[in-house]
Amino acid sequence: MDSLTKDAAKAGLRVGLTSDKIVIHGGKPLAGRIRVRGAKNLATKAMVAALLGETPSLLQDVPNISDVNVVRGMLGAYGVAVTAPEEGQLLLDPTNVERAHFAEIDALAGSSRIPILFCGPLLHRLGEALIPDLGGCRIGDRPIDFHMDALRAFGAVVDKSYEGIRITAPDGLHGADIELPYPSVGATEQVLLTAVRARGVTELKNAAIEPEIMDLIAILQKMGAIIWVEPNRTIFIEGVDHLAGYTHRAIFDRNEAASWASAALATDGDIFVEGAKQPEMLTFLNVFRKAGGAFDVQEDGIRFSRAGELKPVQVETDVHPGFMTDWQQPLVVALTQADGVSVVHETVYENRLGFTDALVEMGADIVVHTDGLESLTRRVPRRKLEQAAVITGPTKLHGADVRVPDLRGGFSYLIAALTAEGTSTITNLGIISRGYEHFVDKLTALGADFSLEG
Ligand code: EPU
Repeated sequence: MDSLTKDAAKAGLRVGLTSDKIVIHGGKPLAGRIRVRGAKNLATKAMVAALLGETPSLLQDVPNISDVNVVRGMLGAYGVAVTAPEEGQLLLDPTNVERAHFAEIDALAGSSRIPILFCGPLLHRLGEALIPDLGGCRIGDRPIDFHMDALRAFGAVVDKSYEGIRITAPDGLHGADIELPYPSVGATEQVLLTAVRARGVTELKNAAIEPEIMDLIAILQKMGAIIWVEPNRTIFIEGVDHLAGYTHRAIFDRNEAASWASAALATDGDIFVEGAKQPEMLTFLNVFRKAGGAFDVQEDGIRFSRAGELKPVQVETDVHPGFMTDWQQPLVVALTQADGVSVVHETVYENRLGFTDALVEMGADIVVHTDGLESLTRRVPRRKLEQAAVITGPTKLHGADVRVPDLRGGFSYLIAALTAEGTSTITNLGIISRGYEHFVDKLTALGADFSLEG
């Protein structure tokens, strides 16, 4: 087993997935009802925010995914008492925060990128942060330069050590004027989690404004922070001396909702996604409809199915309110069934179309242009590294043996296997449990024909 596979297997085990291999007999529509809970990309950050409070925090609708468990383990290593008063809740008590053993942090952090967001809260609480090598999905270089530059602007000193990165703040942290080179989600969160307790006012220009970030701002405001979200991606944060704990229900996981919607589209199924909401999914729903999908927005969720034959679409991934990069992989599978030529332009990550190789093995007609293609003018400046996938359909997919490369790519392989005629074997399944709660149970609930092996 290589180290990535071991990480994936461990991740799966932590959330009760007993097998790392699934054998799927495809060609059957998925139909039924499943529920999505709090967003992975909010819950994990909300847990880190609890470190800033002087009293305990209660987070509700927490998904049972391995990324949550990684952060839970890290908080535990720093002396935060984390308990689950009820299923789906986490009570986080930061009263006794203390230094952690580096080996423990290093062992936990290997499979996630969240540890970098501990920097600001740890600097405020302990005066020091040690960041080991970061994990997360292999979808590009994923540098941390924006994070480190922002921390330096707050007065932090960043040293590279043999263990990782050591960050200190000998004179405390002060407000800063920061302009991000790109509206990075993680760097915006870094600034928020650091500025709320820094001395003075911070101005953040070119901030990310994803709904999960707005939810983090809501949490910080509940804790006592003063944060102004201005037009044009500018955020002002007035530092305060004390923050208290929060009680908060995490925003729903729109990435998971979009994934199941794409599964309904690809398999000609009919899936009611309980917990999905329209406002955060407007852009996805537009594309879904143009691709031939039908949806019905109800009080407690959204029902997804096909309106008729699937149609080709042109999509460009972007920062919010654009089409999320996390939505493209599941959608690409559905587009292999559309009648005509679709183009998916990936502009957020430089290497997020590699997963299409396995779809081609399964019979899809997908050509990746590694330098991108000419496309429309965008809201944010064009970046150097872009890729485009040209998908010509419809193509019959057939079963194959494939290995999960990353979280969203992995889910798209599940959809492809469910769409394909014949049998597919998918290995390295644990990676999917980083972000999809109880996905095996949900496949059962939707009538999928599969068995777990190994
Ligand atoms: N970037 C830099 N330097 C930095 C930080 C980012 O160059 O210091 C670049 C990245 O390499 C990337 C782009 O900026 O090309 C955008 O990255 P961003 O910082 O916005 O992404 P992130 O915070 O690392 C989060 C989600 C991702 C999601 C992106 C975009 C979490 C834990 N991860 O990543 O989610 O794709 O925002 O919305 O919140 C997933 O859930 O599968 C996933 C990968």
